[in-house]
Amino acid sequence: MAEAVSDAVGLEPPRITTSVAGVRQAIADARVTAPGARVALVPTMGALHAGHLALVERAAELADIVVVSIFVNPLQFNDPADLERYPRDLDADVRILTGHGADLVFAPEVTELYPNGDATTRVTGGRVGGLFEGRSRPGHFDGVLTVVSKLINSVGPDVVLFGEKDAQQVYLVGRMIADLNMPVEVEVVDTVRDDDGLALSSRNRFLDSRERRAALTLPHVLEAAESASDRGIDAVLAAAQAAAMGEQLVEVDYLAVVHPVTFLPVDDDYTGKARVVIAAKVGATRLIDTAAIYLGR
Ligand code: PAF
Repeated sequence: MAEAVSDAVGLEPPRITTSVAGVRQAIADARVTAPGARVALVPTMGALHAGHLALVERAAELADIVVVSIFVNPLQFNDPADLERYPRDLDADVRILTGHGADLVFAPEVTELYPNGDATTRVTGGRVGGLFEGRSRPGHFDGVLTVVSKLINSVGPDVVLFGEKDAQQVYLVGRMIADLNMPVEVEVVDTVRDDDGLALSSRNRFLDSRERRAALTLPHVLEAAESASDRGIDAVLAAAQAAAMGEQLVEVDYLAVVHPVTFLPVDDDYTGKARVVIAAKVGATRLIDTAAIYLGR
């Protein structure tokens, strides 16, 4: 265990650093006494909830030093109003993290990561980056991939962790790491859900009580897809579309069944592992969800 950093673990809050130099120094200091210490990075935009804590706790199982980055990345927002209203409360986030195994919080200002106000060089998500989330939010994944590569380069982790709920993000980050030969492993952690099935999301706080009930359409669509999965893709889509209809507050943006290797919609005769992805607006709040299925026939 790397004592220099992990002294703070337990019921003490994690240490906070706001600079790239600071995070690198903290890790270098820890490695003086624990040369082989493994580092995990959990990239977040703050507004932390139990889904993030599951990532942090898994990170603490996989590594000696757990760094949680908290950075609301302007590059991945195509809607300035969405960026503006994204919740930001560093003190609350640090309180939530305390006692869950985070050693260090890296919380840079925008000027620390984008000193020129922008990134001249961007990583792009290619064709898949323009589908689904990328179609509704142009440039979103270029922003995600650019900031994730900056965070990885800043921290130098052995492993980086993401939640399954952001399935397209997970896919594209995995592609980026493979395509660019980045020396880091990816660990994907299962979606954490409320008791009624709604996936935890920082955006759930924007739902009023009617919208909160209506939002259950998303997990219901996934359940319908799963229960039709042994009857092939047409049956899955029909069941999922039927489950998506009838709730006035819900406007489905996309609903698709994709191949795990290509993240493209599966062919009509496909059987095997697949993933259902859905995004919907519930009132003014956009939510996403996903489930792995096995398509039979
Ligand atoms: O999933 C998120 O919260 C963000 O997209 C990430 C990975 C922290 C990049 O800003």
